[in-house]
Amino acid sequence: MGLNACHNFRDFRDLAKRRLPGPIFHYIDGAADDEITYRRNTTAFDDVDLVPNVLGGVAEVDMSVELMGQNLDMPIYCAPTALQRLFHHEGERAVGKAATKYGTMFGVSSLATVTVEEIEKLAPGPKMFQFYFHKDRGLNDALLERARAANFQVMALTVDTITGGNRERDLRTGFTSPPKLTPGVLLSFALHPMWTWNFLTKEKFDMPHLSGHISAGTNLAVSVGEYFSTMLDQNMNWKDAEELCRKWDGQFALKGIMSPDDAKRAVDIGCTGIMVSNHGGRQLDGARAPFDQLAEICDAVGDRIDVICEGGIRRGTHVLKALSVGAKACSGGRLYLYALAAAGQAGVERALGNMRLEIERDMKLMGINGLDQLSQDNLRWR
Ligand code: LAC
Repeated sequence: MGLNACHNFRDFRDLAKRRLPGPIFHYIDGAADDEITYRRNTTAFDDVDLVPNVLGGVAEVDMSVELMGQNLDMPIYCAPTALQRLFHHEGERAVGKAATKYGTMFGVSSLATVTVEEIEKLAPGPKMFQFYFHKDRGLNDALLERARAANFQVMALTVDTITGGNRERDLRTGFTSPPKLTPGVLLSFALHPMWTWNFLTKEKFDMPHLSGHISAGTNLAVSVGEYFSTMLDQNMNWKDAEELCRKWDGQFALKGIMSPDDAKRAVDIGCTGIMVSNHGGRQLDGARAPFDQLAEICDAVGDRIDVICEGGIRRGTHVLKALSVGAKACSGGRLYLYALAAAGQAGVERALGNMRLEIERDMKLMGINGLDQLSQDNLRWR
């Protein structure tokens, strides 16, 4: 099976599984504990049905949205994810170029493997920088100023990684970044020669935003959980978030909000957006799914802040359901990561293209030609 046979999320996942060494595939694919929250993130959408209207005159549909001051050609964007050059040698470059081609936003992680300066040159459109709040305040300031200088329009502070989630697949495979060359890992590399060839012959793996500040993750092999637990400041609190928001002085989101109370506090400290997200089920297993929490949160703050539904989205209909509840837009990580692993930029383009086609078709079948025509009236809970 090749890229042209990838029609949906599962197809990309199958292809990624074939192309990636096991530890790397399971790092993307896995989640915390029993992965119950991870699965619920998607199945939550099945508990709600769409109620279409007809005869809307839908030859032309407009799926553009304005999100946090950015004009996006589609209501879904690529959430920031770490370590992308481990998944495909093009890494963040591929995602940035594909998102630019589709006129949507993409996020670049503090743990990215390509610099924000390079990203700025190849992807002039809307960009989000995803910020981890480190104990090292010098590193925090450097990250903020570097993203600002590279003209990132949106800053997102991740608030759901105060300690590492229990990712048992990573414990089993021994996944670290960069990969530690244990016999098991070497065997999985040998079984995936194309990936291994690219990893060994292309530029050396690095996390350039951290180099010069800390060795973890750059030349020292650590697990992501260990990184969260040791490098990030577990005392991070609302005052810190408020100060960061003030320092950034622009579009600012909290990534990983799940309660209406926290959503209200985000408004109070001056945020312009929140990502309702449980980090793809990779942190607190047993947490509610973003879509399950969305109505409460949108009802509480939807008129004062842009609410983004992040996690579990696999289909155009999922996007329409989230927007009907009140989200301004959606975002996803695995949504494009399997496609990146499967085929680099061409893969991400196909994943975004499929999503665009689905949203367009689904809007027509819902009888609407603009996303502002969606509302909770279009939904029935089973
Ligand atoms: C993860 C981080 C790095 O979930 O976002 O692995």
